Amino acid sequence: MTLKPIFDAIERSAHRIRDAITNEDLCYSQQCNSTGDMQLKLDIQSDLIIAEEFSKITAIKAIASEEKEEAETLHPNGRYMIAYDPLDGSSLIDVDLSVGSIFGIYDGEFQASNMLASVYVVYGPRLELVTAYKGGVRHYIFRHGRFMEQETIKLNEKGKLNAPGGTQKHWPPHHKKMIDGLFAEGYRLRYSGGMVPDLHQILLKGGGLFSYPGTTDKPEGKLRKLFEVFPFAFVYETAGGEAIDEKGRRLMELSCDDPHETTPCFFGSKYEISKVKAAYDVD
Ligand code: AHG
Ligand code: MN
Ligand code: MN
Ligand code: MN
Repeated sequence: MTLKPIFDAIERSAHRIRDAITNEDLCYSQQCNSTGDMQLKLDIQSDLIIAEEFSKITAIKAIASEEKEEAETLHPNGRYMIAYDPLDGSSLIDVDLSVGSIFGIYDGEFQASNMLASVYVVYGPRLELVTAYKGGVRHYIFRHGRFMEQETIKLNEKGKLNAPGGTQKHWPPHHKKMIDGLFAEGYRLRYSGGMVPDLHQILLKGGGLFSYPGTTDKPEGKLRKLFEVFPFAFVYETAGGEAIDEKGRRLMELSCDDPHETTPCFFGSKYEISKVKAAYDVD
């Protein structure tokens, strides 16, 4: 069975969300989501757009979203389950920075080991889409009315960029030492506060490290396993990089008991991940 109808639904959602970002109200709703984020009207609208497009596809059994408390069954006889972050980086919309959508597609239950494919969309100056599927990370740019395929994305063994998330005053000391060490080696700071463009930049510019550690205020980190962490771990591993937690475990080996569970996470090329393992004493 092919994932084509699912990829097509993601493309349709991408155009509709791009359109909503361009034309709709940017204000906050009066509600918070399960992780306590204040929801923009656009977060809610993007979620509805995606749910509507996925509900047309009978192969999709269930969906889970950052913006909804519980997973929702669409077609009981369907095979695939999809977890998604409808609008990642939405707090950056008012200053017109790039944002994205993230999707993890599972053959069966929401466990990383069941992941078949992951997809993310970048709403930047251009509309771009990246899929990790069947061993390759494919990159598409929307031009002249269609998504045109670019060169396959591969990470180098060692990169140049450093994207350190979390509030510095809450970082553990060994984490700060590792981040400072990379800067001392010549790594350049590249952090917008949007996971999609930050990780996309590292992928396209040859490599580096994106980290979001456990901190004194958030020991389990901020980023959500189902909606953010697993899909990007799948992309990074497929591109030849690595994705681990603070104990040096592959993110793709972690279990997930609650749809909104978070984890400390590190995504990068092999060299930078070896630095993380040394700093956290897990190598
Ligand atoms: P979302 O907008 O979907 O809630 O996600 C925001 C996330 C992610 O995009 C980003 O990497 C991270 O929050 C930034 O957090 P900090 O502001 O703590 O750096
Ligand atoms: Mn949010
Ligand atoms: Mn997000
Ligand atoms: Mn979001």
